[in-house]
Amino acid sequence: MILCHTIKEVRAAIKEHRKSGCEVAFVPTMGNLHTGHVQLVHEAHEAGDIVVCSIFVNPMQFGPNEDLDAYPRTLEADSEKLTEAGCHILFVPNANEMYPNGIEAQTQVNVPELVEELCGASRPGHFTGVTTVVTKLFNIIQPDIALFGQKDFQQLAVIRKMAADLCMPVEIIGVSTVRAESDLALSSRNGYLTEQELATAPQLYQTLVKIKQAIEKGGKDFDTLCAQGNEELSQLGFTPDYLSVRRQSDLKPAGPDDDELVILAAAHLGKARLIDNIAFALNHN
Ligand code: PAF
Repeated sequence: MILCHTIKEVRAAIKEHRKSGCEVAFVPTMGNLHTGHVQLVHEAHEAGDIVVCSIFVNPMQFGPNEDLDAYPRTLEADSEKLTEAGCHILFVPNANEMYPNGIEAQTQVNVPELVEELCGASRPGHFTGVTTVVTKLFNIIQPDIALFGQKDFQQLAVIRKMAADLCMPVEIIGVSTVRAESDLALSSRNGYLTEQELATAPQLYQTLVKIKQAIEKGGKDFDTLCAQGNEELSQLGFTPDYLSVRRQSDLKPAGPDDDELVILAAAHLGKARLIDNIAFALNHN
């Protein structure tokens, strides 16, 4: 695996492969890699010839009171995992390489509407930070294919819309969430949980499953189902942020006649803000 720290180095490393007609599959990450990231790399192998990954804890997508400083940085262990998973080129820029004139002076990429709700409502500016850095990374790497986890369902939707609206020549692939045996969605932020919180955390997904089952049995009052879910989460020790049944297509609130649904949740537990979702189709016949 070739390790590059500068834009110049990574462009030169990719150029060699592109000359021989290789398709480039790209996995952007913030590091502290777990099995979910490794799965993205495996799927990148299936999708393209050359796998490029990036590790960059993007300051632009963190709010002032969020965990930018605490976010785990584990480059050595990450490099080992990526080498083992068969990543060919790893790009690890620093903030100065990505934002040489500072974040305030950085041109921004903003996807309207979709970013205003759910995670966007509780983390103002977050998705602008994501879409700006992903655009920069796409321009640096120029991938044919880019892979993102479905755990960040809204992020995936925002990136798909950005790529479509801006005619970016890249295919966006969403990869299924990888879960622990307990069904807890793998996340770098799970590392903030105490042992006791780790035992509670899978209840977030169980709440989504319960709501899905109620809807499949004919439940149509989504607001009440979510209010009950929030109540149960609070009793378990979570501080719920949102719990909502949405249309998969545009993440607008779902109605009883919609059939492609996704239930999305975010909740704080101890020092961690956990997110999860469950997407499913209803057959109204
Ligand atoms: O999902 C992430 O890890 C980040 O939001 C991403 C896509 C790497 C952009 O910083």
